[in-house]
Amino acid sequence: MHLVREISENLFWVGADDRRLELFENVFPIPRGVSYNSYLLLDKKTVLFDTVDKSVSAVFYENLSFLLKNRSLDYVVINHVEPDHCANLAELVLRYPGVKIVGNAKTADMLKQFNNFEASNYNFESGFLEVKEGDFLETGKHKFTFVMAPMVHWPEVMVSYDTTEKILFSADAFGTFGALSGHIFADELNFETEWLNDARRYYTNIVGKYGNQVQALLAKAAALDIKLVCPLHGPVWRKNFGWYLEKYQRWSAYVPEDDAVLIVYGSIYGNTENAANILAALLAEKGVRNIRLFNVSKTHPSEIVAEAFRCSHLIFAAATYNAGVFCNMETVLEHLKAHNIQNRTVAIIENGSWAPQAGEIMAKFFQTIPKINMIERKITINSSLKQNQRSELELLAGDIYASMPKTVIPAHDVKTAPIQNEPFFKLSYGLFLLTVRDGEKDNGCIINTAVQLTDVPKRITFSVIRKNYTNDILKKTGVFNISILKQSTPFDVFKRFGFSSGRDVEKFANCPKKTRSANGLIYAPEHGNAFISGKVISVTDYDTHTLYIADITESCVIDNAPSMTYQYYFDHVKPKPPITGEKKVGWVCRVCGWIHEGEELPEDIICPLCKHGASDFEKLP
Ligand code: FEO
Repeated sequence: MHLVREISENLFWVGADDRRLELFENVFPIPRGVSYNSYLLLDKKTVLFDTVDKSVSAVFYENLSFLLKNRSLDYVVINHVEPDHCANLAELVLRYPGVKIVGNAKTADMLKQFNNFEASNYNFESGFLEVKEGDFLETGKHKFTFVMAPMVHWPEVMVSYDTTEKILFSADAFGTFGALSGHIFADELNFETEWLNDARRYYTNIVGKYGNQVQALLAKAAALDIKLVCPLHGPVWRKNFGWYLEKYQRWSAYVPEDDAVLIVYGSIYGNTENAANILAALLAEKGVRNIRLFNVSKTHPSEIVAEAFRCSHLIFAAATYNAGVFCNMETVLEHLKAHNIQNRTVAIIENGSWAPQAGEIMAKFFQTIPKINMIERKITINSSLKQNQRSELELLAGDIYASMPKTVIPAHDVKTAPIQNEPFFKLSYGLFLLTVRDGEKDNGCIINTAVQLTDVPKRITFSVIRKNYTNDILKKTGVFNISILKQSTPFDVFKRFGFSSGRDVEKFANCPKKTRSANGLIYAPEHGNAFISGKVISVTDYDTHTLYIADITESCVIDNAPSMTYQYYFDHVKPKPPITGEKKVGWVCRVCGWIHEGEELPEDIICPLCKHGASDFEKLP
């Protein structure tokens, strides 16, 4: 039975998942499987972009015949000849003998090496359509051009660009390990939290060696207007691609992602491991918060390579073995070199019972790696760590810590004292209407935490109460408007959008004007002096609130009336509690004025009107 997904009008994913393969390229463990992506365009001409691995041929051909029905296949564009994408070609031409194979000169040579076209009765010389960089292929409504991308991952690799719909068929670039499991778009997945590690492991181990070539492709791609990116493995990108592109920029330039310490140890009886563990603890005591330890005899080198690309500091602790470096550590070092790791701070610990050698050999090894900042202090353990060597480890931890950017605050330097609520009320918050839309349903809520994060690109950050319905919609859609409210905004607006839930009421039901910005969402033309539209690029839940970072897609000033501040709201807008003559004992919610009666305020209280917590209550006078 076929399994296809529509990517855009008349363009379909016709690939398949593979969860049976243990080792990708017979090297890399893929516990989450992998997808082989192939795409079919039904234009005036029919065009297939790459094929799939032989292991999933059956469903691939079902997909093709389901979509083609009685049509012939006119073109198959070969962006990459590697057999996980091209092993089906000899059979494809047998099934669709009139198909033209589109590729570059190198593609042709390599295809003939891998396939026996004579056995398929296919005249390759007349069936092959050679394209060069910048050539065009018109297929009806669509017009494609081709960009050569040699060594991303093999020499024949090219990418295809649909100038009509702005779609990039990116070959191995922007791919990842991991079966798609029904998803096809990256924004259907929790990519940042659940896929990034596999994406990094895929990039670093498959094309990590070819950073310069990847940079060359990124430079060419920067000149294209790209709406969709269709890689040969993993999901298609239609939103937030800039976030992923930034990872590629770092990885290909060998710039660490994080100020972090990776400790890799090769230990025979646990004594070298003991030193690695103590060093990690000493670093943690100093305030380093991002430390990973790996046992080279347990963790696959591909994971260590990926983490080495992520971390700024690499510590290698190895026993001496056969007058050399512990064998599994030697393997890891060779993997790192093969994938061109560079531009890191490195420290070394060695162990040896009668003739320690590992340290010197590792130090010489790192002299062959570009841009290594070697920490001079090298620790030698004779069989096991002795009490008097703890100070050596402390000094090494100090050297490592000293070489890290000082965004890490030493934990022992921070003294604690009582935390009062009042200083937080003195922060100069504004008040804003955050609006979202889920299908036909508009909703919104009041927030007080929107600030600009960066100027180039324009980005903002803001938080929303996690329980809010608006928050649920925003997490789902990633698109919003923030209207900056004016001082003249009446209390009714705060009541409607701050103290009721869109789950119970239609918040915009009685709004006279429903003015929409370019993204189709409502903004507040009457009570707002400006609005900002954005799309979310990062979402993190923190206890009661969700923190968002977003790219700006539109911003517009409506008028020059002064903005509402939190202070102005409390002093001039929020009604004062009525004077009844009867003195109440209790706590008042500073945000909406709801009163909890009683001497004690429950620690876990949530205001039933505006959902703020205990920190927003104050005792009645
Ligand atoms: Fe997925 Fe380089 O092939």
